[in-house]
Amino acid sequence: MKYVILSVILLTAAATKGQQKKSIVIEKPLITTPYELKTRPWFSDEQLITTGVYYYPEHWDSLQWERDIKNIADMGFEFVHYAEFAWAQLEPEEGKYTFGWLDRVVELAARYNLKVIMCTSTATPPVWLVRKHPDVLITGEYGHRDDHGSRQHASFSSNYYRSYSLTMIEELARRYGDNEQIIGWQLDNEPRACYDYGDDAQQRFRDWLKQKYGTINNLNKAWGTSFWSQLYNDFSQINIPLRSRWGMNLHQRMDHNRFVAHETASFLDSQAQTIRKYAGHRQWITTNYIPNYNEGYIGASRDLDFITYTKYMVAGSAQGIGHKGYRLGNALSIAMSNDFFRPLSPTYGVMELQPGQVNWGRVNPQPLPGVVRMWLWHVFAGGSELACTYRFRAPIYGFEQYHYGIVGYDGVTPTPGGLEYKQFIEEVKSLREHAKPGAPVPLHYAALKTGLLFNVENSWAMEMNKQNFQWNTLGHFEKYYGPLKAFGAPVDFIRDTFDFSAYPVIIAPAYQQIDRDLINKMIQYVRKGGNLVLTCRTGHQDRQGHLWEAPFAQPIYDLIGAEIEFYDLLMPQASDTVIMGKKGYEWVTWGEILKPRAGTETWAVYSGDFYAGKPAVTLHRLGNGTVTYVGVDTKTGELERTVLKKLYTLLNLPVQDYPPGVMVEYRDGLGIAVNYSDKAYRLPLPEGTRILIGDQNMPTAGVTVWKHAD
Ligand code: GAL
Repeated sequence: MKYVILSVILLTAAATKGQQKKSIVIEKPLITTPYELKTRPWFSDEQLITTGVYYYPEHWDSLQWERDIKNIADMGFEFVHYAEFAWAQLEPEEGKYTFGWLDRVVELAARYNLKVIMCTSTATPPVWLVRKHPDVLITGEYGHRDDHGSRQHASFSSNYYRSYSLTMIEELARRYGDNEQIIGWQLDNEPRACYDYGDDAQQRFRDWLKQKYGTINNLNKAWGTSFWSQLYNDFSQINIPLRSRWGMNLHQRMDHNRFVAHETASFLDSQAQTIRKYAGHRQWITTNYIPNYNEGYIGASRDLDFITYTKYMVAGSAQGIGHKGYRLGNALSIAMSNDFFRPLSPTYGVMELQPGQVNWGRVNPQPLPGVVRMWLWHVFAGGSELACTYRFRAPIYGFEQYHYGIVGYDGVTPTPGGLEYKQFIEEVKSLREHAKPGAPVPLHYAALKTGLLFNVENSWAMEMNKQNFQWNTLGHFEKYYGPLKAFGAPVDFIRDTFDFSAYPVIIAPAYQQIDRDLINKMIQYVRKGGNLVLTCRTGHQDRQGHLWEAPFAQPIYDLIGAEIEFYDLLMPQASDTVIMGKKGYEWVTWGEILKPRAGTETWAVYSGDFYAGKPAVTLHRLGNGTVTYVGVDTKTGELERTVLKKLYTLLNLPVQDYPPGVMVEYRDGLGIAVNYSDKAYRLPLPEGTRILIGDQNMPTAGVTVWKHAD
């Protein structure tokens, strides 16, 4: 687990004024999150990280089970993951349960000293359920229904699906809820947003709206239904908005997104409550989300103990760095998942990590030799406490043919990725004696701690009302996140309910929807010495998604020390330039033309159009802190990086200058560096540093781990 240094703001405030830095540090676990209070020491700190693997006994001859499980243990894995997608084997007929096979593999795990993660199998309802109640199937927006034969075809909004799921889970939990071999539960599989237009979903949406708004007039106001004659007289008249229909009410669509997130979250909560009746707090409960930053359900299931993510780095889509960078994947991908999940859930980990080639990409290349191990170290570097790989045996039939496992098609020969897992496990075990669990991170690293303020509702609002097709919300985020990792900064994606005071700098990219309380919270934060960076598209709307009945974005003017005269969007063939220092930076997507108030500095100006010379970037000093406003989104993100560099330098924050793809993090008394770049890199380390793994010269896909001194 990573720790923050509470007095960072004081250090920075002092540094800004050129005073001596204090050296007193107070350790405290990360900010309050939905999961913090529930966090028990599920994993021992001394273990650092524990590594396991998925195994599907139901796919293989039972005579091979013991051999396979022994091989899993012999490779060093510490836990095994069972019963995902096995509802048909657990309940072959309604109400008839067959647990014998699962009992056997749990016993085998015990024999070979492997802990077990049990899964709830709800992603694959059996055919008897689907045929008896076809309305459990997801109905598309134009009425077509899914069918049995794949997975995840049942709707989280189907009342039958929910109740049959909970009945099955209750039996599973009754059977295994006090089994000491089982450390925890994973609910469902990669739970997602389920867009269902079936009757139950329609009714549940109406009920949810009624609960939210109380009266239909409140809803009419919030949805602005006076526009285009959309007025409703009663909740029963409302339908789920069509997703592909042009011009659907934006506020209705926002509420539907919220509803869908709620459905996923509440289904998982019901599963967790059912298990809890039998497992109490002896076994933990989690789920494995795809780190999809444009969804609202991650972090919304309050009955889980912690959350995990899944990660597939090489499936032919990510470019990576250099000609063959696709063999390593997007360098920021694991970093960002770590930095997104950890602040929500101080205990977290990766539940599925690709061991080799997959089968479902447009192209399914071989990962670069060594990169599987590097991904694992990168997962570890962020603070994860568990790493689990998908899957032990490569399937020889079914949709995932050609997908690699830890062993190949013969069931026994380790794949290259399998051997890299083995190596990682051995390396972690060797480190367990050197690490100092929970030790404070080095001061130079802690001083850079940066919060990235995130609210998925902003992304929804901007993505459905872009104003410029060239706008990319996540791309805009990465223009800030990327430089921070190059600076060597520890980054937390934070929510606006979090305590801001642990962060010397907070960046709120394109924070479109805002309210007065948040503005006041920001002002207090800055006055006390915090440094806030706001970017274009911030504060235009209230939380209902209405523009302010005031000058454009007026509620943030006092905060940023500037007014916004207007905004402009450029045609792709007619880009323009923002000048900072002597350099020009090309932009097309979004530019706000600023009018600074007295005392506010101008850092960059527009050139080349009728507002040439007017400010694009400003800095406002407020109390002990600063507010930087970056009113423009540039093409390459180079301006954004330059602004951050200038700000961090002004604040005396010790930024590094790692090349793209090189990242460094600290935990448990260890420094960890990874190299996704296509070039070798010589890591700057203080004289006398004790390297425990790897070398100061890092090849592509290299990993270096060292003991840090302070
Ligand atoms: C994941 C999924 C797994 C498996 C895997 C194959 O997205 O959660 O169940 O299908 O892909 O790569």
